Amino acid sequence: MTRALPPTRHITSINDLSNKEIETIFEVAQGFLQNLADPNVPYRIGRSTDLAATCILASLFYEPSTRTRLSFESAMLRLGGANITSADPAVSSAAKGESLADTIRVISNYCDIVVIRHPRDGAARLAAEYSQIPVINGGDGSHEHPTQTLCDLFTLRTKNKSLRNMKIAISGDLKGSRTIHSFVYALARFGATIDPLPAPGMELPPHVDRRLREEFHSRMVSKTSGEADSGAIDALYVTADQPHQLALIPEPEKHEDIVRKKIDAVYVTRFQKERWAEKERPYPKIDAKFMRDEKYSEASVMHPLPRVNELDVALDKDRRAIYFQQAAYGVPVRMALISLLLHLHKNKSLHQFAGGFAKPEHPVYAQPIGTGLQCGNANCIVADPSERQYAANKLYVIDEPVQHRCKLRCLYCETDVEDAVADRFAVADLTRRTYSVGLDALSRTTGDRLKHVVIYPNEAAAERAGFAPREPGKKARAG
Ligand code: NCD
Repeated sequence: MTRALPPTRHITSINDLSNKEIETIFEVAQGFLQNLADPNVPYRIGRSTDLAATCILASLFYEPSTRTRLSFESAMLRLGGANITSADPAVSSAAKGESLADTIRVISNYCDIVVIRHPRDGAARLAAEYSQIPVINGGDGSHEHPTQTLCDLFTLRTKNKSLRNMKIAISGDLKGSRTIHSFVYALARFGATIDPLPAPGMELPPHVDRRLREEFHSRMVSKTSGEADSGAIDALYVTADQPHQLALIPEPEKHEDIVRKKIDAVYVTRFQKERWAEKERPYPKIDAKFMRDEKYSEASVMHPLPRVNELDVALDKDRRAIYFQQAAYGVPVRMALISLLLHLHKNKSLHQFAGGFAKPEHPVYAQPIGTGLQCGNANCIVADPSERQYAANKLYVIDEPVQHRCKLRCLYCETDVEDAVADRFAVADLTRRTYSVGLDALSRTTGDRLKHVVIYPNEAAAERAGFAPREPGKKARAG
């Protein structure tokens, strides 16, 4: 008798996986290494199994890739499966203007699982909405790259045994690097301390900083003088292992312990020049001189690769350099993820692989298409000319009762609408035909009530659409 399969599951963010599921992926990856590694190179998969013998993976890549695509395809071949590939947008129907929704609807009939890479933030999540089969995000704009994070964490865990209480420095383009964004969420979730070393003007984006502090319980601690503000250049993100330990962090000796603790790994990223208007920027270089500092004496050097100039090739021979192993682990880790998403394991707990990270459930507001209000991120997938004819802007309504405020966050690219912009929004009530300015009216709204609301970018737009002010004569608060 065949067992019923759990519902189709997509991995578009590292936060689609619970910590326990991440550990499960690592156990399965470790099992593949134990059974299939090259006897001379323990981190290299050298043999194959027939676990996925009847399965096909499609790699749909709208952006250049070496490691991600080839390691996914190698993983599928090592599992005994087959690959179909569309890796050059110029020779696919994308060049004719085909939408992502149509492409995915068609491709899901040709294969069992798809990995997608796209230059737009949120593309994988939009694709997942139209897919009957699991969609894995192989990197979407500067949003996230969850499977790179799985390789990064697996590498750290293999090296350091545990992910808890590590201190990780992250260097370079923290704004444009999708690998960094998935990585910092995971580090916070596993209780690590993050030491940001951004290139000038390339700090973590505000929405990532905010989520680290508000959703993943990180706290800003100055490297010198105790508590710090978000955005302070000398600050660490400290995340306690257990939420109740947060209260202990400001205690002087604890603070000093954290500041004094040596770095366990330096994670280097290249300048993501394809995501910036300027092609040259001042940029830190990690080399032997940098690594000579005592605090890095035991620090592994990591890089998602490709490297350009930011990581000196002279470090390749340094015992602390582990970036080529990190890339090699892409095969067992992706074998594990594919086999779990396709429920190929007989063991009941592995066969289920359903659940995910317990995220806060925010109601979602869907903007009627063509009504003007858009996610503020110009690189969001819903701003793409091929997608915006059918893809509604969908925004989480995040109620902050303590601050008496509501926020909007794009469901696809997860960028927050800035307060100064949202303060001008007009929230129109379709039943009463009135509007009020600012997002206060959305406070304590349920998903159902949101269906009776349309948000306009400003009062004038609401009035043009035939709505009257809720409190006539009262001036807008802002704008
Ligand atoms: C990364 C990516 O594509 O985001 N590469 C990778 O998948 N290993 C990093 C990068 O391009 O800088």
